[in-house]
Amino acid sequence: MHAARLFVNIAQLVTPTRLGAHRGVEHRQVQVIPDAAIAVQDGHIAWVGARTEWGGTADEVIDLGGRAVVPALTDPHTHAVWAGDRLDDFEARLQGATYEQILARGGGIYHTIHHTAQASLEELVALALPRLKCLIRSGATTIEVKSGYGLTPEAELKMLKAIPQLQVRLHPITLKPTLLIHVPPRTGREAYLHTVCRQLIPEVAQQGLAEAVDVFVEREAFTVQEAEQILGSARQHGLAIKLHADQFHALGGVELGVRLGALSVDHLEASGEAQIRALARSQTIGVILPGVNLHLGLSPAPARALIEAGGAVAIGTDLNPGSSPLFSIQQAMALATRLHRLTPAEALIASTVNAAAAIGLTDRGALIPNARADFLVLQSADWRDLSYTLGANPVHSVWCEGVLIEQV
Ligand code: NIG
Ligand code: FE
Repeated sequence: MHAARLFVNIAQLVTPTRLGAHRGVEHRQVQVIPDAAIAVQDGHIAWVGARTEWGGTADEVIDLGGRAVVPALTDPHTHAVWAGDRLDDFEARLQGATYEQILARGGGIYHTIHHTAQASLEELVALALPRLKCLIRSGATTIEVKSGYGLTPEAELKMLKAIPQLQVRLHPITLKPTLLIHVPPRTGREAYLHTVCRQLIPEVAQQGLAEAVDVFVEREAFTVQEAEQILGSARQHGLAIKLHADQFHALGGVELGVRLGALSVDHLEASGEAQIRALARSQTIGVILPGVNLHLGLSPAPARALIEAGGAVAIGTDLNPGSSPLFSIQQAMALATRLHRLTPAEALIASTVNAAAAIGLTDRGALIPNARADFLVLQSADWRDLSYTLGANPVHSVWCEGVLIEQV
């Protein structure tokens, strides 16, 4: 075999064993190859194995310095485009106000909507770019980005149009755009739903501005019936679907997602046995967001129980100003090991193949032949440092399609 690039001097290469979502018992299995090598051709993995077993030739040999290598991470849930801040909310919450109370009185998400409406497209791009660069330095080469801080089609389209502009600047990183129908306007709810289903979703689908539609099902946001209407329209227009479900109350969002074949249901802090059972029997992935647990003080989603029941779990940062100002997917993994009691292997699977599957991608997240050659070189020779380290970056360098894009 001949390859463009051969990577050698890898103390440990650690990877899920196949692409696509891993569920239940498969969550526990990662392959560890000591003294490994990786051959890359045309941005994809051509060969992986023990260094001594490589019998081919290569144009270039790259020495990775005796470090550990893992697949690059996917962040399947961010709200990286916003203007303004939520520092007053933060202080109010520390003094006893709750996230839901702030939202109910027209603050919180509505505050960010107000500031995002006032920002130009160029300003939104300039604000989001350094946030996404933080996520990349923390190990993400694939990042989902949601809209959702608009209450008019114009405001939502402006947010979505920021994403392809960010994509151009961040190539070869992958950004996946999602239209989020986040909260209803304070008056004119019915008319808004009509506009979303008849005007916004068709236009987004027609212009190719998003690949999925997400709805926030919650007491202060949308009902299950409203979400079904919105997601039905998404389906009709060929878009995938996702939900923010069970963040504060289990209102039926998870069951709706399972019934409609959602790619993922995200949050799950208030999920109980019934929701775990429904999810475990489905193809829908449960996305946990440890930053929200830490920042809002919510009890962690029952990720352990979901894994034991045979479900698939992914981890996201939920990067946003109100519930999760977490700019590192690696820290999200590290938090999931403590707050949700995921093992390092489970956290790696949740942040690679499962996170990619949660946004509809099955071509990345495992270092196996034909997968995208997106990988991380760690500072350490032991891969477990990735989910162990708090407050420093255990990532040494980020490689995308076999090319160095970030030296930390
Ligand atoms: O995923 N809960 C709903 N939406 C976001 C928070 C958005 C915000 O507070 O600005 C979330 O937590
Ligand atoms: Fe979110």
